[in-house]
Amino acid sequence: MPESVLGIPAPIEQLQFNHTTYDLIVFAYQPWFLSPSIPATSLLNNPEFLKRLKGTNVVTLIGSRNMWIAAQEKVKTLLKQADANLIGNVVLRDRHDNLASAVSILHWMMNGKKEKFWGIFPLPGVSENDIRQSAVYGNIINRRIKENNYLSLQEELVKNGAVEVKTNLMFIEPRAKKIFSIWANAIIKKKNRALWLQLFKYYLLIALFLVSPVVLLIYKLFIQPFTGKDIKNKKEYFSGVNLKNG
Ligand SMILES: Cc1cc2nc3c(=O)[nH]c(=O)nc-3n(C[C@H](O)[C@H](O)[C@H](O)COP(=O)(O)O)c2cc1C
Repeated sequence: MPESVLGIPAPIEQLQFNHTTYDLIVFAYQPWFLSPSIPATSLLNNPEFLKRLKGTNVVTLIGSRNMWIAAQEKVKTLLKQADANLIGNVVLRDRHDNLASAVSILHWMMNGKKEKFWGIFPLPGVSENDIRQSAVYGNIINRRIKENNYLSLQEELVKNGAVEVKTNLMFIEPRAKKIFSIWANAIIKKKNRALWLQLFKYYLLIALFLVSPVVLLIYKLFIQPFTGKDIKNKKEYFSGVNLKNG
């Protein structure tokens, strides 16, 4: 968790590239703890990969549970620092209820079995149907490569369902991200890391299953009805590929 949240890369094996330059790089990654996963961060810090990114068009492809917004902002920043041109983003996610998918994905991650937990929870992860349907985005991108025209590519992808920004998760993510950063900065300095990670685990379970439903109910009743314009603007921003102040 601390390394994911703080963006600390891990050493990776020597990468083999067939070319020095590319027309387009599809950067596929998963979010971990609202941040790019450690393998994704490690790749985005790899000097050889950074050389290929410089000046190159990039499409990000996210495979997530459903909380990908903060991770993508970080990836946007790293791509910008690498002088890459982010021209598209496709988000694949688990479409089931937020809490149900948290349980079913946890079961999957802990046991390596992509199955219905206790026979009652939904099948975890991105559905087979969504994986098959994502060929639509591949075809759009393929056509754009042939035409060498990437103007408004993201708008076309979004029109075809490539990104859906959920209002409640858009509210929760930046707040949770700040709290995760506090935990990560504290844990990374601790000698008894295992104990602190246990504490974080219990915090996470309480935050996810007890606190967030209450906070979201308050948000739905007292904030959401009065902030429609702000929500619309933010959804537009997070559906896009631009970086705020970037
Ligand atoms: C340590 C860890 C943390 C994760 N954190 C998030 C998260 O913050 N948001 C999210 O949407 N999914 C999260 N996931 C789910 C992954 O993004 C991804 O959907 C899952 O790992 C399945 O993809 P994979 O089989 O390619 O690993 C997490 C998974 C792991 C293993």
